[in-house]
Formats: sequence, structure tokens, C-alpha cells
Amino acid sequence: MHNLKDKCVILAVSGGIAAYKAIELLRLLTKAGADVHVVMTRSAQEFVTPLTFQTLSSNPVHTELFNLISEREIGHISLADRADLFIVAPATANVIGKIACGIADDMLTTTVMATKAPVLIAPAMNVNMYTNPIYRENEAKLGRLGYLFVAPVCGALACGWEGQGKLAAPEVIFEAALAALSVKDLAGRTIMVTAGPTREEIDPVRYISNHSSGKMGYALARAAVRRGASVILVSGPTCLPAPTGVESVLVVSACEMQAAVMSHASSCDVVIKAAAVADYRPVERKATKFKKQHDAMTIELVKNPDILAGLGSMDYQRPFLVGFAAETDNLAEYAAKKMKEKNLDMIVANDVSQADAGFNAENNRALLLFRDGRSAECPLMSKDALAERILDSIATGLNGDRG
Ligand code: CTP
Repeated sequence: MHNLKDKCVILAVSGGIAAYKAIELLRLLTKAGADVHVVMTRSAQEFVTPLTFQTLSSNPVHTELFNLISEREIGHISLADRADLFIVAPATANVIGKIACGIADDMLTTTVMATKAPVLIAPAMNVNMYTNPIYRENEAKLGRLGYLFVAPVCGALACGWEGQGKLAAPEVIFEAALAALSVKDLAGRTIMVTAGPTREEIDPVRYISNHSSGKMGYALARAAVRRGASVILVSGPTCLPAPTGVESVLVVSACEMQAAVMSHASSCDVVIKAAAVADYRPVERKATKFKKQHDAMTIELVKNPDILAGLGSMDYQRPFLVGFAAETDNLAEYAAKKMKEKNLDMIVANDVSQADAGFNAENNRALLLFRDGRSAECPLMSKDALAERILDSIATGLNGDRG
């Protein structure tokens, strides 16, 4: 779970059929701890009632510019001042046109104009409106002025047309909101993350693998993008969607992962090896499915290359190296040994024997060990939260001495 405690977010909803999706966005923001204040235009209220947003945000919904009964302060100014982030979702062509032209004639447009917070706009409209040169000019102008956009997606539109104009998914807008609120302390850095298991094929239908889901590596990739890094995600087979804004390299086996990692390594500032690489592969991959015959059978295995150790032995342009250690016992001792033997700057040690953390779980707890002998305990937390903690340490390590 992400931590937006102490963050005040204004969610401005304008009048489009996608207004109902703003409800889900509100849920994601409040679940992450944000204090969300909703502003609605008159037309938005034709699609969804203010009561829905009021109930889910636990805050009054702002609809009128001049509300003399409830406002002792000037409503739109105090809201605008309080905001850490301003989101307009869905944003109609009309509202975007008004913002671009400096028209402030209702609660939403007045508050946007008065805020100094970053403004994130998620447009939703008919495809012909979206491609209209007037709209395009308005969007380009706002882009130049620093307004952030989450592009609409292609699909069947409510108006009957097919094309780009559907509001981006609430999860995608939420991710963009997290990015807008993040400190860009990794800007200018290139970070490679490896994630997921590898699969070592025995024949066309069978393979050797492990329980890694890839969730920790994907959380690291998303968090690094939010913090401004260019991210290359080298991933083994997982069920996870590719995070937005990363260069995804999909691999299957350890040897393929090694080739992908080594071809990018020297252009990276950091490599985080969260992947659970299979240590062995079958000596031979059968070309056709083998048939069962005997009661017992033996498959001869050969050791896979240790990708991380290979990175550690680079004597030129070695990136800042972060390994993971999956252990069931002697966590600190084994992890420290791996850090030394593979010549790492930092290692994230996981106890994978516990059911509530590690492999395939939503949460994780870890012991971070550093080259200079320091260590830090991370108690049970979401993989997203742990990713932020790991990146905090990496950002510090990049700015300081590697020890
Ligand atoms: N690793 C790697 N290549 C391998 C095996 C592991 O790059 N062939 C990396 C992993 O991505 C991880 C670290 O090395 O960052 C430690 O992996 P782990 O599985 O915990 O340990 P191993 O080195 O494989 O040793 P063991 O299985 O004996 O504990």
C-alpha cells in the first residue's frame, strides 16, 4: 500500500460519462491515506451525485463558487492553497479549453487557476474532439506550462465511435498521481531491475522454476520511474502487467536473462537483482515431449551462470549493485556472505520461510545490509512501501561513498 498520509489532493470531476470512474480513483487515493476534496462541475453532477463523492471522501463536495452559508474563508482559494496535487479526471475538452485560455467561471476552473500545486489532467472525450487541432493546441500549451497529462486510451467510446478518448484506467491515473507527488531524487539515473522467476525447459511442455511472482521487482521498477529514473525491467515470466514508463525486456531462462542484463549493464547507474534465477538447468532440452516409462527418473542438471556475480566482477563501469538474498535460515550471515562474494553495494535479505512475506505474498519484511557494515531492519510492509525504502537507501548510496 502507498503512503499518501499528510497529502491533500483535490479531485476535480467534470461532466463526462467517465465521471463514474472518478469514484474508483477516489477510493484508491483515500485507501492510500490522502485527504481528498472533490470539486464537481454542474454537468458532472448530471452523471454522478455529489453525495457519492462526499460519502467516500468523508469531506464536503465543492460545487458552487459562491457558497455564503458554509464558507467563512474564500472557498476556492483555501482549497487551492491546501492542495499538494490537483487532479482533473475526467477532464472534458471544454474544461481543458477553459484552463488553457485562463477562463475561471466556476468552482473547478477558478480553483485550478488559483493553485500552485502540480495539476494532473486525465482527458476523456470523443475521438474527433481529441484529435481536433483546437484541442491539440490547448493540450500542447498546457503541457508547455508544466501541466501533466494522463493520455486517454483507445476503445469503444460511449458516443458510439471507436478510437482514442476513453479515460485512462483509475489505476493508471493513480500511478501518475503518485509520480507527481514523488521527489525526483533518481532523475538522470538509469536503473535496471530484474524480476520474476526464470524457467528452465526440460522439453516443450515441462520446465523447472520457482515460486517468485515478480511483485517485488515490479514494485521497484514502478517506484524508480516515479522518482524520475529511466528504468529497464528485465523480467522472467510473470502474470503482472508491464509498468508504464519502463523499458520492458521479457526473458524466459537464466541464460536469456544473463544476455539481457549484460547487454545493458554498462549503461546503468544501478542494477537491482530482485529476480529469483534458477540455479540449475537441464543439461539437455528434449526437442519432443518425453514419454513416461520407468517408476523413477533422473534429469541431469548443470549450473546456470551467476548473473549478479558476473556484474560484481565488472572492473569497468560497474553499476551500483543491489542483490537479494532468499533464505530460510541464518538470514543475516548468509546474506552478508553473498554480498561479499558477489561484490555488492547492498543486499536485501528476505526470510522466504514465512507465509506472510516474500515469495508470492503481497507484503515483505527485509533486512538491508550495506557494504560498509551498516544494516537496517524493515518490518512487515507492502512491497510498494519496501520498494520505496530500498530506493531511499540506493539514492543515499549513489550520493555518497560506496564504502
Ligand atoms: N542470482 C543471479 N544469478 C544466479 C543466481 C542468483 O544473479 N544464477 C542473484 C539473484 O538475483 C539475487 C542474488 O543473486 O539477487 C542471490 O540469489 P539467491 O537465490 O538468494 O542465492 P544464490 O546466489 O542462488 O545462492 P543459494 O541459492 O545457494 O542461496
